[in-house]
This record gives sequence, structure tokens and C-alpha cells, in this order.
Amino acid sequence: TMRNYSRVRCYRVNMGLGWRLLARPVISRLDSEKSHDLALGTLSKFDKSNFGKSVLSRMYKSPELPIHTLGRLFHHPLGLAAGMDKGARALSAWPALGFSWIEYGGITRYPQDGNPKPRMFRANSERALVNSMGFNNPGSSSLRDSLVDRKSSGNWPNVPIAANIGRSKKVDNEQAPKDYSHTLDTLWGHADMFVLNVSSPNTPGLRDLQNEDLLRNVLRECTKVREKYNSNKPLLLKLSPDNDDELISEMTDISIKYGIDGIVATNTTISRPEPKNTQSRIAFSQSGGVSGKPLHKRSLEVISNIYNHTQGKITIVGVGGIDSPDSAWKSIQAGASLIQLYSGLVFKGPGVTSSIVRGLKSRVKEYGFSGITEAVGNAHK
Ligand code: FNR
Repeated sequence: TMRNYSRVRCYRVNMGLGWRLLARPVISRLDSEKSHDLALGTLSKFDKSNFGKSVLSRMYKSPELPIHTLGRLFHHPLGLAAGMDKGARALSAWPALGFSWIEYGGITRYPQDGNPKPRMFRANSERALVNSMGFNNPGSSSLRDSLVDRKSSGNWPNVPIAANIGRSKKVDNEQAPKDYSHTLDTLWGHADMFVLNVSSPNTPGLRDLQNEDLLRNVLRECTKVREKYNSNKPLLLKLSPDNDDELISEMTDISIKYGIDGIVATNTTISRPEPKNTQSRIAFSQSGGVSGKPLHKRSLEVISNIYNHTQGKITIVGVGGIDSPDSAWKSIQAGASLIQLYSGLVFKGPGVTSSIVRGLKSRVKEYGFSGITEAVGNAHK
């Protein structure tokens, strides 16, 4: 009918506007950090405006597909992955782009500039990014202050918020447990859950924290902070896709032993796909971690392995190469209760969130499930 037609057309016009405002700058160059900063700067202006947020929300709202996990009710499983909003500058604007939960950070105890630029590259043909950011972030105290201001000005988002915590570059692995626990303590009142990131490839030595003894020490110090606050806020551990399956099972066992509530699978990979053209060859020859589509296969395997190993007893957050309803559905069926994306937003623009959630919702219906929870781990049944 005419009415439907005009609704569709109106939607298209809106998508176009949003794309111009937020995403097009991001796709214009090989060194994409400037474009990212520009898009984040724009979004942080929306963050401060209730009108702006309601406009975005009208364009990008996702349908409801509720799931209860980690002691919280999520509107649907799809959240924003760490690294996109390291300094939580646009925290309240992300839900208006359809995300049901937001992970800010990575944050370290001390402020850091990160690695020299350029440090973020695109491989368009593979829909992949290579980054070697190295935890550029304002540091835990400064971030806490800005989050306190945000809360007191009434601009705190109405969805679950996770904080991603990394190790400061100048601190060695012996001192790492105190470095993590200090940041955790500083930010304790300013997130609903915390992700301990021992898997970024861009801080020298960080991934060694995935080895048994060092990992135990980090988890011990961090769970002490939770005990101190007599709290049950979830703690999660974020893993590298480059670990072999045996190490991943071992780390999962240790996590369960220390009362960790969830595993985030996965961070970026230091492995490289075969480049399809010159742009990709240049991008893949840079040092750093690959994210995006080429990561999905391994991320799925890691999710599956953890789910099998634990019989679904620990919450899994699936991340890595999710950029469509199909990839999202696969990650959930492999065992993820929650999912996240970063690169998908860069390559597909802000409409990607609601299109994924709509796709998940229709699959739930197609399979005759009563809700998305029934799909979690379904591939193993
Ligand atoms: C990241 N990622 C990341 N992860 C993390 O735990 N702490 C961090 O600070 C960052 N920073 C970061 C910066 C950039 C530029 C990128 C591209 C990625 C990893 C991210 O959260 C996610 O695990 C991977 O990008 C895989 O997901 P996608 O991008 O394939 O959806």
C-alpha cells in the first residue's frame, strides 16, 4: 500500500542521513583512526543531547529479544565490543544505535598514548581491520572522574555497562595482578560487570598472563576486590583466539575455580588471512591484531570448545567477525548467550545492529523456539 511504501522510503532516507553522519567518514581511507575519531566525536555530541538520541533511536532501534544472563536482563544479546569507545565518551548514545549493552575501555591504571600512528588499517575486501592501538586511554582515575560527572548530570545509559580492563604498559607481569585490581577497584562503582583482558596482542608480554600461574594471580587479586565490596557483580575473562584448545579449556577451568562468571571469546588474532588485493596486503603486513570477518571461524570454534568443555555452565560472550544475522545466529547456537561486534559497525554502518537483531528474531520464530535463550548452544544438541 501507499502507506507502507512511504514508511519504507522514509526509513531509507533516515538510514542515508545516519550513514553520512556516522559511518561514511570511517570508510574513506586506509588509515582509519582519524575517521574513527571523527565518528566518535559526532556520536559524543549525540550523547549529550536527548533530542539527538531520540532521533538516532528512531532510526536504529532494535526489536526486543530478551535474554537473562549474568544476573541481568538484556533487551537482546547484541552489545558493543571493547575498543570502540575506550574513554566512554559516547556511552549513552550507543543504546540509541540499537545495542543492548556497552563495553567501554580498555582502561589501564595509568594514562597511555598507545603505540605510534598509524595503528589502524582496513582490508575492505576481507571486511577486516588490523590494529595495534596498545591501550591508548585516559587512565583509570581520570576515566572514573568523567564517569562520576556523567552520572551526576543524569546521562547514564539505561542498559548494562561493562568495563574492559587491561594491563598498563610500564608494569611488568609480576606486578600485573595489582595493576588490574587497582583499576578494577577504581572503576568498581562505574560498571555493572568487568572484563579482564589478558588477550590483547598490542601490549608486549600481556598474552603471557594467559599462562596458568600468572592467570591465577590476576584472578586472585581481582576476585579479592569483589569480596571487599561484598558484591556479586560479574567478572569475565577475555581470551585470545590464538591459544590452542587445550590451553583454552585449562583457562576456563581456572576461571570457574576462581568464580569468574563468563568468558569473552575472542580478542583479535595475530594470524593473517590470505590477502585478496594490494590494500589488504598492506593492511595484513602491519603488526597488530586482525578483527572482522576472517576471525569468525576461529571465534566460533573457541565458543564451541568452551561450551562443550563446560556443558554450558559458564556464560559465553561471542565476539569476532559477527556482522550479519547468520554469523550472529551461528555464534549463539555455538554457545554464546551474549554477542558483541566492532568491525561489523565499521564496514556495514550503524544499521547493522538492528538488522542483526531482526534476523535473530525471525530465526527464533522459524525454529519454533520460545525465545533466544533456547537457541544458546543449540548446535550441540
Ligand atoms: C579492539 N578490541 C579490543 N578488545 C579489548 O578487549 N580491549 C581493547 O581495548 C580493544 N581495543 C580494540 C581496538 C580496535 C581498533 C579494534 C578493531 C579492536 C577487540 C574487540 O573488542 C573485538 O574482540 C575484536 O575486534 C573482534 O570483534 P570484531 O571486530 O570482529 O567484531
